[in-house]
Amino acid sequence: MRTEQPQAIYLKDYQAPEYLIDETHLTFELFEDHTLVHAQLVMRRNPAHGDGLPALVLDGQHLELLSVQLDDQALSPSDYQLDADSLTLHPSAERFTLDTSVRIHPESNTALEGLYKSGKMFCTQCEAEGFRKITYYLDRPDVMSVFTTTVIAEQHRYPVLLSNGNPVGSGPAEDGRHWATWEDPFMKPAYLFALVAGDLWCVEDSFTRQSGREVALRIYVEPENLDKCEHAMVSLKKSMRWDEEVYGREYDLDIFMIVAVNDFNMGAMENKGLNIFNSSCVLARAETATDAAHQRVEAVVAHEYFHNWSGNRVTCRDWFQLSLKEGFTVFRDAEFSADMNSATVKRIEDVAYLRTHQFAEDAGPMAHPVRPDSFIEISNFYTLTIYEKGSEVVRMVRTLLGAEGFRKGSDLYFERHDGQAVTCDDFIQAMEDATGADLTQFKRWYVQAGTPRLAVSEAWDEQAQRYSLTFRQSCPATPDGREKLPFVIPVEMGLLDAAGNDLPLHLQGEAAAQGTTRVLSVTEAEQTFVFEGLTAKPLPSLLRGFSAPVKLSFPYDRDQLMFLMQHDSDGFNRWEAGQQLAVQVLQELIEQHQRGEAFHLDPRLIAALGTVLGDESLDPAMVAEMLSLPGEAYLTEISEVADVDAIHAARDFARQQIAEQLHTALWDRYQANREVSRSTPYVASAEHFARRGLQNIALSYLMLTGKPDVLAATLEQFEHCDNMTERLTALAVLVNSPFSAEREQALQAFAEHFKDNPLVMDQWFSVQAASTQPGGLARVKALMQHPAFTLKNPNKVRALIGAFAGQNLVNFHAADGSGYRFLADLVIELNALNPQIASRQLAPLTRWRKYDAARQALMKGELQRILDSGALSSDVYEVVSKSLA
Ligand code: TRP
Ligand code: ZN
Repeated sequence: MRTEQPQAIYLKDYQAPEYLIDETHLTFELFEDHTLVHAQLVMRRNPAHGDGLPALVLDGQHLELLSVQLDDQALSPSDYQLDADSLTLHPSAERFTLDTSVRIHPESNTALEGLYKSGKMFCTQCEAEGFRKITYYLDRPDVMSVFTTTVIAEQHRYPVLLSNGNPVGSGPAEDGRHWATWEDPFMKPAYLFALVAGDLWCVEDSFTRQSGREVALRIYVEPENLDKCEHAMVSLKKSMRWDEEVYGREYDLDIFMIVAVNDFNMGAMENKGLNIFNSSCVLARAETATDAAHQRVEAVVAHEYFHNWSGNRVTCRDWFQLSLKEGFTVFRDAEFSADMNSATVKRIEDVAYLRTHQFAEDAGPMAHPVRPDSFIEISNFYTLTIYEKGSEVVRMVRTLLGAEGFRKGSDLYFERHDGQAVTCDDFIQAMEDATGADLTQFKRWYVQAGTPRLAVSEAWDEQAQRYSLTFRQSCPATPDGREKLPFVIPVEMGLLDAAGNDLPLHLQGEAAAQGTTRVLSVTEAEQTFVFEGLTAKPLPSLLRGFSAPVKLSFPYDRDQLMFLMQHDSDGFNRWEAGQQLAVQVLQELIEQHQRGEAFHLDPRLIAALGTVLGDESLDPAMVAEMLSLPGEAYLTEISEVADVDAIHAARDFARQQIAEQLHTALWDRYQANREVSRSTPYVASAEHFARRGLQNIALSYLMLTGKPDVLAATLEQFEHCDNMTERLTALAVLVNSPFSAEREQALQAFAEHFKDNPLVMDQWFSVQAASTQPGGLARVKALMQHPAFTLKNPNKVRALIGAFAGQNLVNFHAADGSGYRFLADLVIELNALNPQIASRQLAPLTRWRKYDAARQALMKGELQRILDSGALSSDVYEVVSKSLA
């Protein structure tokens, strides 16, 4: 918290560190009402940084300095300068050892950054700038050091003491205390430091590396969760094997540990050899975690494990390069998940998420490039743009270089930069050097914010048997005011004949046709590609697999979209055609609603979905995806001015019609899959995720008919299933139904049964917060009084407040502004408790430009009220001030 306005820092001001830290020796003495941290830093002048001995400025925040010693010399306050963010010293030699002791208060740390307590255990979160809340240090990723850590704590309360690397010693200490020392042989920046102390139990396993050596694997949890670790352990072993096979990367220490904690700001953290996870991303078993949760655990375990190479062995030079590790690692975990499950379905989910949320960010006040030029608070830049768009940028590199070239590039990158802190340019350079490609223009993806538009038109020359596609790209202005130059946009595409087969693609200027699907590289503002040797006008299938993060438009009519839905050889584009058809139909309904007309639904949508539903050859997961209409948030994103009520009414009407008109087919597919679920025990595999996904979407449609037999089926499923996927779906279906007595009874039974499982209670909160039944805000306010709710736990905040403001759009955007006022009050309260969580909950208010004038005024008024509410954290200040600029 500060009174002066926080200042921005700029990439252009980057300077190499003036001093380096070769060795870091830490001793932690943990007590119930304070912690003592002793740091011994073996330091030297950075030879790469000019002459002389400049002042040494160490980062430090909220530290009570107890002593400072330079080599053998104890310093007195006149020897150094101390302020709220730093300690300045004046070394007199090129090499020296610095000893400091500080007192900190993890027991009252609610920001969950630095050393803090989650329940009864101590844990750390140092990325991005949390280490400076532990001790005075050069807290920047280009200062890498070897760490030795000793932890001393009461034996009885904290039998397990962990840190990075290998255990090298332990033993008893005075007063019922004990100690343990850990040594991490790999150089690392401070943001990868971790410490854990608690009464933890572990599940153990081992993995044999390709080279033959064994790694001990341990997942530490509180004892009641020992039975929920197997899925994470299996996922970890799969990840380790996959990284060996696909990237040639082996694990490098003899032990790999994961610790699950309940209070955590994000999903998980890749600390060297000691990953710390939000318990929601580790714990999973049939009875308590949904299929989606199982898949999330698999993906996050893989993500953090993959960071061992993309992030830890090769790290970031500065935080502007965050996407170097995050974009690349998201790409790696997405490919892993695609290989473990259905690749097409994974791609569909990721693209739907990107287009709904990252595109909205890119069009809002916090828009920034994949490599930002400036920031006020780095914690605000763990964004969808850095992660998801960053991953798309890496995917495009692979598309342009081909899988083999990409692997050569990644091999060179890891080999060349092992042990270094590098930049996004270094990554691209390795890709270029390994393949001879020129990615100069491609690098605009790193520096230009905003989502490019790609408008495509066609021309058919019957006589010459030529078909041409003209691409026009543009990029809307973003708050940085930067001029937008053309991007390199890889467009994977094919041409379909009248029977729906892919045609050979013969580009003008080439000797012969080359394949039936290929990647066109669009590099100019306007560019035409001519295809020859065609006997009839083809139908194009564009941007297959979503080969670039752009908004593509092509004037398809509805019959053509229905044709693509059935015949496109690219599974992603079959889904995409269905989405475009649904968008066209829904937009028509939205306009009818706005004109006050009765709804008239284009029967072709029902016909198309009926065909999908009846197609037994289609992967059930694909059927489920194709049956899901574009969400209200996506319809908002693609609207010029979003009419919340019209969007909701239109989508509801379409869903209702689908339910009624496809009732028989939905019922058949529900029954068939429920029968399998009933007769076989739960299996967490892609095949069963798919099957249950279809079963459950069918049930949610069926309930819209309000028929008594559907209610009976829902109650049967709720009561007689062996897994959370079926139980939670049944609950959600009841919560969104008009059957209020059954709904209340189910909610109560569920809460009674699961009251001791906080992750399940999160689901219970979310299902209610997301219900679009009237009176949403009052319900959420009442739930905040529930004994299982607390603002101090980020998972609870996300489950209740996040779900309400992010998913329950009709209620949150109530015309009287009550939803906005509620959220602003909460952000003001959270700002003092946990700035990162406060700032993230703000996102829905930052989208004010999307709404009508009345709502805009209300939303801006609330943002202003937050700004005027007193001392703001830099996190909240940055988002609010940029939103009002
Ligand atoms: N590096 C982590 C990841 O993506 C992100 C992370 C975990 C994080 N906890 C954080 C970022 C706290 C900022 C603050 O895997
Ligand atoms: Zn990450």
